[in-house]
Amino acid sequence: MRFIILLLGGFLLFSCDKVKDVFQEKDLLQRPVAKRCSECHQNIYNQWKDSRHAVAWTSEEFKRASENYSKTKCLSCHAPYEITVSDKPNLRDFHREDGVNCVACHFRDSTKSMHGPYDVFSPPHPSTQDLQYTKAEICSGCHQETYKQWKTVATEKNCQQCHMPSEKGKLIQKFPFDLFHASKEVHHHGFMVPKSKKDFFDVKISKDSSGVVLKITNLKVPHNVPTADHGNPKYYVDIVIYKDGKEVYTDSYMITPKEAFLPKQEKVINIPYLESYDKVKVSLSRKLSWQKEAEKIASYDF
Ligand code: HEC
Ligand code: HEC
Ligand code: HEC
Ligand code: HEC
Ligand code: HEC
Repeated sequence: MRFIILLLGGFLLFSCDKVKDVFQEKDLLQRPVAKRCSECHQNIYNQWKDSRHAVAWTSEEFKRASENYSKTKCLSCHAPYEITVSDKPNLRDFHREDGVNCVACHFRDSTKSMHGPYDVFSPPHPSTQDLQYTKAEICSGCHQETYKQWKTVATEKNCQQCHMPSEKGKLIQKFPFDLFHASKEVHHHGFMVPKSKKDFFDVKISKDSSGVVLKITNLKVPHNVPTADHGNPKYYVDIVIYKDGKEVYTDSYMITPKEAFLPKQEKVINIPYLESYDKVKVSLSRKLSWQKEAEKIASYDF
């Protein structure tokens, strides 16, 4: 019963010309902090608040690396006003602690509305459907290096498909408005970094006069691993060589973004071990810029 009344009320309101004025919440068009959007977009907000984008300004690493925010050329991607395609954005001069927040990515001065992937009816704020949001280009103004690397690979997948996976759900959770809006694909706003799986890399081992030769190819990630615009992520390749059941040689190689695993390209590591062996174990692990410790990715036995 309550539902029917709401539905009727809803139809009356929909037909009313003044619906926009009645429901519009003007402060939403004045670039508020992300928390403000959580009143309706609660699920998306909860994901974002735990994301690296939310701490892009306040992170200790950034504070240190930007010399306590004194290196001005570093600041704008970490507290942007409005994102742009391929160029770095301008710096905000308010709410900087909010990092890469909702309005920086969604609100446009040009239309005074929220741009997004859908054609929606959103009385609290105007919205504009903008298909750029479904393309890799929307990330390119800040993730410039990664975008350039991705561009060189023939792949169907864009950044969102791997870093903002979607599932069916509501864009908003606020009662009773949520009842009037159909479910859609909602993209995860945690901007997580999936872990590579064992078969993402092809690992081969051989022997020549200089010792053991290790060849590793990044088969599945369509950008460098590790990739970075300014952080300092690392990969580690650990090697253990066995003879007669005993460890006879161990070594560890650190892979920085400068000597990364390029998509579909073989990387050769020469191990100066000339004796014979029975078994070799190669392990890969990674440490994202902000992680304190490395985590295991996979190991390969030969
Ligand atoms: C063009 C946009 C842009 C500019 C300018 C920029 N950054 Fe970044 N920064 C990024 C992006 C994107 C990342 C995400 C990390 C990645 O690509 O792996 C990042 C990540 C980082 C990280 C790692 C995050 C963390 O919390 O550990 C640090 C530290 C950092 N940047 C410092 C800087 C410094 C210092 C400067 C100035 C020399 C700078 N950034 C300028 C875009 C930018
Ligand atoms: C009072 C409720 C309310 C608040 C607060 C609110 N929104 Fe919305 N928003 C909506 C509704 C309703 C829709 C349409 C939902 C649907 O059709 O499924 C929507 C849709 C959107 C869309 C999708 C647009 C598109 O074309 O794909 C974006 C982006 C968006 N909102 C951003 C924001 C941001 C950013 C904030 C905070 C500044 C915010 N919203 C605050 C109610 C709200
Ligand atoms: C306004 C600039 C900006 C835009 C636009 C942007 N990012 Fe970021 N992104 C950053 C910064 C800065 C960081 C690093 C924050 C930190 O760790 O301190 C980051 C971090 C990330 C991370 C986490 C990296 C890690 O090491 O954990 C992912 C994943 C990511 N972004 C994906 C995306 C995707 C996908 C898009 C496009 C939909 C996008 N970003 C758009 C600036 C941006
Ligand atoms: C096919 C899926 C896929 C696509 C498409 C993709 N990525 Fe990634 N990305 C990954 C995986 C997997 C990792 C983690 C690799 C690892 O650490 O093992 C990663 C890592 C990252 C990282 C973390 C930085 C680091 O330490 O290496 C950032 C930032 C990132 N991607 C941004 C992007 C952007 C921007 C795009 C689009 C231009 C994009 N990715 C496209 C799968 C993808
Ligand atoms: C780094 C940029 C970025 C940030 C920050 C960001 N979004 Fe998004 N958002 C996107 C992109 C890109 C899409 C579209 C993904 C697609 O369709 O492939 C999207 C989609 C949406 C949609 C449509 C539903 C969906 O998930 O496709 C809503 C609503 C939305 N965002 C609200 C928000 C709110 C609220 C916040 C803050 C809590 C926020 N966004 C933060 C980039 C961002």
